[in-house]
Amino acid sequence: MMDYSDRIIIGSDHAAFRLKEIIKKHIEGIGYDIYDAGCNKEESCDYPIIGHEVTRIVKKENCRGILMCGTGLGMSFVANRRPGIRAALCHNEYTAEMSKMHNNANILILGSRVVAESMAIKIVDIWFNTEFEGGRHQRRIDQIDIL
Ligand code: RB5
Repeated sequence: MMDYSDRIIIGSDHAAFRLKEIIKKHIEGIGYDIYDAGCNKEESCDYPIIGHEVTRIVKKENCRGILMCGTGLGMSFVANRRPGIRAALCHNEYTAEMSKMHNNANILILGSRVVAESMAIKIVDIWFNTEFEGGRHQRRIDQIDIL
């Protein structure tokens, strides 16, 4: 059920800059068209600025994104404020798989200080290769943005 464009918007703060570069290289290797919204160095910066920019583009282009910070929590708070964004903070294979199968997450979030680089790559691969199940899960997703 690929209902989005193939562009991947990626972003991190300084704490996850290194992980972002690794993930970027990995998904470029798979062949995805990537837009890197920053940050561009390990110098301290504010995660909400990057988080809001990535979610703005993901929503506008109906594509997918990957956000990273130290814990993944700050990016998660920011991303999930925007209606239409379902940002999943994943720590392992199971959460990566379920975030697509049941939640159809359009943003994956990783905590660079929480997951090892090898696990982060595994999570990304699972996230890209798992399909949304639809059905009752679509009905539940439709209820998320109703306030
Ligand atoms: C930066 O030190 C850290 O606070 C940030 O990367 C993130 O973990 C916030 O939630």
